[in-house]
Amino acid sequence: MLERHIADYHFIADPTTGMTMRWGTTIKDNPTWAPVPELADISISNHCSKGCSFCYKDSCINNEFLSVEDYCRILDSMNHPQYGNVFQVALGGGEPLEHPDFLEIIAETCRRSIVPNFTTNGMQLTPKICGSLSGKIGAVALSVSSMADLEKKKLAFLIDAGIKTNIHYVLSKNNLEEACKILRGCYNELLNGINAIVFLTYKPAGRANAKDVIQDNKFFRAFLSLVDETSIARPRFGFDACFVPMLLKFSHINPSFIDTCEGAFFSVYIDHKMNVSPCSFSAGKDSYSLKDFAFYDIWNHKFNSYRTKWKSNCSVDCMHKSLCHGNCPYYPQITICHE
Ligand SMILES: C[S@@+](CC[C@H](N)C(=O)[O-])C[C@H]1O[C@@H](n2cnc3c(N)ncnc32)[C@H](O)[C@@H]1O
Repeated sequence: MLERHIADYHFIADPTTGMTMRWGTTIKDNPTWAPVPELADISISNHCSKGCSFCYKDSCINNEFLSVEDYCRILDSMNHPQYGNVFQVALGGGEPLEHPDFLEIIAETCRRSIVPNFTTNGMQLTPKICGSLSGKIGAVALSVSSMADLEKKKLAFLIDAGIKTNIHYVLSKNNLEEACKILRGCYNELLNGINAIVFLTYKPAGRANAKDVIQDNKFFRAFLSLVDETSIARPRFGFDACFVPMLLKFSHINPSFIDTCEGAFFSVYIDHKMNVSPCSFSAGKDSYSLKDFAFYDIWNHKFNSYRTKWKSNCSVDCMHKSLCHGNCPYYPQITICHE
């Protein structure tokens, strides 16, 4: 069990199950932010040869890679002299498996007792690479925006290597109907063996289009009512933090199991040029370079005005208002419990 207890901040994580728990002065309190981020989302490149139409990073074949040296510098900058390092990293890009030194990056992460996770488009997955990663990875997420994109063979390479595998399903206006089918159990056979399917709120950045953002329509409401269903056999599922305002407002999920937007509060994003920002969708806003500032100067001081502004920004009539950070600071149009 990983744990950290600093003054009014308490956190435990079970690396085997991925289960985490956080509390404040008492078990009933929520700390506002963590003295050391729990998770760092690190983009190790912007190079990718797949060209997904929904890619918010607009990644392409451009050979923009973070070097292993700079990656190690990032990890070491987050190692707090008193409290230790982040517990886990989520590696993205670009396509992590197209980084020429990806296995070295994983080794450097493990060497520091940090759990590496990554997301992939799946193109480069082979039994060999899955074998090399076996036993070293917290979880892998395979990104899709349609079930037709999910290759059973690639999924099997991961599952057969004993790697905990999630599906990242980018949820847009166009696939809500298919997402309902997933929650009705229609894809149980294809999804057999996965850990969970995680619905990611479609962000209109990069190659993703503003017209495809989720809208409050009958499919959206059907999807939400299926979230609350307890009688259907289906894979485990979850959501990214961007979907949380809608879950709090429209679903009956116990709010104790829901974490609001964590960026700059409990997690941090670092891009392949070593810029630190609250999350990967900040598109250069609230961003500070590790070449100019020490990590804990950014985390402890530079992010303070962001935290003050976004701690409780909800203006909606909602019973869970006090738990919610409100609309997304960068793409307010994705938070559709707002007007
Ligand atoms: C940009 S991808 C890069 C990593 C890897 N190439 C992949 O395909 O997973 C990082 C994460 O962003 C997600 N993603 C991509 N475009 C998105 C969008 N427009 N809105 C929300 N999430 C998106 C992907 O599903 C993945 O989980």
